[in-house]
Amino acid sequence: MASTAEFAHHMIKEIFEQPQALRDTTASRVSLEEAVVRLPEVRISPQELRSLRRINIVASGTSRHAGMAGQYMILELAGVQVDVDYASEFEYSNPLIGPGELTILITQSGETADTTGAQREAKLKGSRTVAISNVVDSTIAREADGVIYTHAGPEISIASTKAFSAQMAALFLFALYLGQVRNKVPKALGQYYIRELLGLADKIKAVLRCASQCEKLADKYHRFDDFLFLGRAIHYPIAMDGALKLKEVSYVHAEGYPTGETKHGPNALIDEHLPVVIIATCDRNDPGSVVRYEKNVSNIRGFKKQSGQVIALASEGDTEVSSLADHTIYIPQAPELLLPILEIVPLQLFAYYMAVRRGLDVDRPRNLVKSVTLE
Ligand code: BG6
Repeated sequence: MASTAEFAHHMIKEIFEQPQALRDTTASRVSLEEAVVRLPEVRISPQELRSLRRINIVASGTSRHAGMAGQYMILELAGVQVDVDYASEFEYSNPLIGPGELTILITQSGETADTTGAQREAKLKGSRTVAISNVVDSTIAREADGVIYTHAGPEISIASTKAFSAQMAALFLFALYLGQVRNKVPKALGQYYIRELLGLADKIKAVLRCASQCEKLADKYHRFDDFLFLGRAIHYPIAMDGALKLKEVSYVHAEGYPTGETKHGPNALIDEHLPVVIIATCDRNDPGSVVRYEKNVSNIRGFKKQSGQVIALASEGDTEVSSLADHTIYIPQAPELLLPILEIVPLQLFAYYMAVRRGLDVDRPRNLVKSVTLE
């Protein structure tokens, strides 16, 4: 798997490996008939999981964005409060954690010094720890009480893509598992989510068909030096990672921001020189998603009044967003909690094509390494 095969770079190959990475990370851990998730490698008793007071998620870079999405999943499915921290901050912040709490460490490599350091700090304080890693027997896995491996295969490109979507899938599995253990997820709801999860790989394959559209967008926007990525709720972490991908591989400055916050400052930046990428999908079965969608439509109207250029991610069948945005990339219908795994794909592709169009070393961006093993 470590060769680029027929692909020009590892990054584009790994973007296209996401359907398989998702299948390999989820299929063997769920039973649709019984509507259950099984995570034996978590090795923390149901009793202890039922008595959990709080969960901390600690990670770096793209892995922390997965944790931010996982926060919404765990809150919604298990009803447990979650805090997300930068590993580099957590370790020296004298965190107020202790027994009765769980700290989830997310790290593709399993060797990031900030994250392994944070794990040791959490254990010192009496917290149980679960690692989500893509490398079997990595340091983070060896030193954790429990582990949930992502099965994304080797990720060579410095910018993380397939490991990121696999991390979000692993967090979704954990959230559903925890919800079932804590009797928060009725069987019918569990069956609904498991069915949707098993169908997600095919939806990633479908959204990969927007690659040529993303390439054309990169061709149109490759000379712009600033972008704003916007998302609400669970889509905000995706805006953050879309911005990080663009920074990492194309050296273009980009900022991820909660959409509702643009009126408190960033709106001053939006004009024809600062393209806005906004996640404006909608899960019509989720009342909160519908409310956020209406607000997003209003935001897009406002940006257009300011001569802003808007690239929108909208749900298939949407007509309102596409009538307002300059460009619309359609995302297949899926439950709100699973949409992020689909939404990140066009943002990864856009960043990739921007880097290629700017003639940069896509897989080995300057000043970056795949895993920062020294603090
Ligand atoms: C950075 C990588 O060095 O480390 C990012 O360039 C990654 O892609 C971050 O998200 C964290 O790495 P890991 O292995 O802890 O997930």
